[in-house]
Amino acid sequence: MIELNINGKPYTVDVPPMKRLLDVLREDLHLTGVKEGCGEGECGSCSVLFDGVLANSCLIPVLQAEGVEIGTIEGVAIGEQLAPIQQCFLEEGGAQCGICTPGMILATKHLLDKYPQPTLPQIQEGLAGNLCRCTGYSRIFAAVEAAAKLA
Ligand code: FES
Ligand code: FES
Repeated sequence: MIELNINGKPYTVDVPPMKRLLDVLREDLHLTGVKEGCGEGECGSCSVLFDGVLANSCLIPVLQAEGVEIGTIEGVAIGEQLAPIQQCFLEEGGAQCGICTPGMILATKHLLDKYPQPTLPQIQEGLAGNLCRCTGYSRIFAAVEAAAKLA
């Protein structure tokens, strides 16, 4: 049995210790906000917060997640209400197909925790590990800037 702490809630899963955290979240815990893109640590669509640091859950065996505070997109909204970052992505058109969006929003959260008023280069660097095939990035950067103004 492996004990996990996700979005502040305790979970116990009976899975092989080397199963990817990404698969445990999606298949065993039905937290399907986390997405699989490349499966190789390149695209960031599987991003989670791992003790507050952005991490690719496709590269993490679930065993390593024991004792870690894991944050997923399901923990971002405030009850039924979108968090300001989510609202900004919606309003600025920062989400299209949506595959990259949960990871982008977690990357934004991580970035704004570090730099509450980031410059454009800091935004570009902060989101550099998260790839988007749809938006051309400018609307995503605008969403991050809008979210920073609300902070
Ligand atoms: S699916 Fe994990 S980085 Fe692409
Ligand atoms: S919105 Fe489609 S990959 Fe980013």
